[in-house]
Amino acid sequence: KYLGIDVGTTGLKGLVVSEEGELLDSYSYELDMKVPKPAWAEQEPEDWWIGVYEILKKVSRTHQIDVIGFSGQMHSLVVLDENNEPIRPAILWCDQRTTPQCKEATEAFGGEEKVISKIGNPFLEGFTFPKILWLKENEKENFKKIKKILLPKDYVVFKLTGTIGIDYSDASGTACFNVKTNYWDEEILETFGINMDIMPELYPSYGIRGEVKESLQKELGWKNTKVVSGGADNASAAFGIGISKAGESMVSIGTSGTVLTLTDKKEPDLSGKIHYFNSVIQDKYYYMGVMLSAAHSLNWVKNRFFHSSDWTEIEKRINQSVPGSNGIIFLPYLNGERTPHRDPNARGVFFGISSLNTENDILRATMEGITFGLRDSFELIKEKTEIKDMRIVGGGAKNKSWAKIVATNFKMPVKMPKIDEGGAYGAAMLAAVGDGQQLEDVLKWVKFKEIIEPNYQDIKIYDDYYEAYKNLYKSLKGNFE
Ligand code: XUL
Repeated sequence: KYLGIDVGTTGLKGLVVSEEGELLDSYSYELDMKVPKPAWAEQEPEDWWIGVYEILKKVSRTHQIDVIGFSGQMHSLVVLDENNEPIRPAILWCDQRTTPQCKEATEAFGGEEKVISKIGNPFLEGFTFPKILWLKENEKENFKKIKKILLPKDYVVFKLTGTIGIDYSDASGTACFNVKTNYWDEEILETFGINMDIMPELYPSYGIRGEVKESLQKELGWKNTKVVSGGADNASAAFGIGISKAGESMVSIGTSGTVLTLTDKKEPDLSGKIHYFNSVIQDKYYYMGVMLSAAHSLNWVKNRFFHSSDWTEIEKRINQSVPGSNGIIFLPYLNGERTPHRDPNARGVFFGISSLNTENDILRATMEGITFGLRDSFELIKEKTEIKDMRIVGGGAKNKSWAKIVATNFKMPVKMPKIDEGGAYGAAMLAAVGDGQQLEDVLKWVKFKEIIEPNYQDIKIYDDYYEAYKNLYKSLKGNFE
């Protein structure tokens, strides 16, 4: 049996999966996030370990595990001292403190295009390297103590096995990994006075990293339990729904929203609008757009104004309105936006309300606005590479009316996977490959329960509203401060 664990931001999820890919059991553990100052976000690495340990103990009551795989929040920085102890809390992917470091580093390195051509992405607030630079400037004592940096799932792998390393998919999200050489970028590290020695060794996501420590195996009653390196959460989630060939794509409607397409191309987006990272499969990469408030926007509207969390009721109301929401357009920028605007100051907008509108129009406009946000990423990816096949996942995707709106806007069918469990299932699949199963066989675990076709008669109306949606941000841009 395999165990896939996702080290997320709001919690951990553990899935026990059989050797044929059947989901046997699911475990979860909630995590808190500390916000010591506005726009900061931190977590104690020890808390991830306490949670993982708890899951392992629960799993061991019923299951003997052969291989454990991990998926984890991307970009978050863990710093270890010479005794491999965390020096300070981890600085998370959603922490926004590094704006000055990003600006200065981009200038010092000769501009954004040069940065992107080396590391695949611009220096963005969320990424790991600017966080190292922040420590160098603001916590000099802590910075001096750094012996190694790791990402969240790697810290847990270290606690489990005693080995220190990182996989390629997470390395590519650090902003100091050269996407062409597939190695840490010496020039960037040197330019900013960061010692290469603090960068961990690189491993494939499904490569075995070692056995669970003997004492722990004894405690759990396990034998020969191995651990693979695992992968970045988005890359693992894509793998977990069978994405393995160029053009295969995923749209995920969770709190945040992502659109991702696998590619063979070694060609980042030089405009810096969409991300480019290594996938968990060797020599495959992916383009990705990230919107910050996807289902989060709908939940906000639902909870604040409809005082309801009943999805059936919401779906009914949405279907009582019409495509285009009788003229209302919603900009889903409650917490600023990453793709395509990279604008932390952008804010939510309801536009075009008339006295004829109903509350159902407001709800539908919210769902449509979020879909237009996803469409922005979809269109940008399409400029870089062909999108051949689309799979839909996440809490929002459980709502079929919404999946239909997405399919109509993307003008292609969207497939709903039978198992929609985010990175954790992909992590279990990585464990299976680490166990010696063929990649192609493991990919066959993935099945689809439904294919949602576009509503062809609504395409024109969405095209028109999407144009208006894009123009609206352009007109309002200067007013967001
Ligand atoms: C991706 C990103 C998030 C995190 C969430 O660039 O920042 O999706 O991976 O864990």
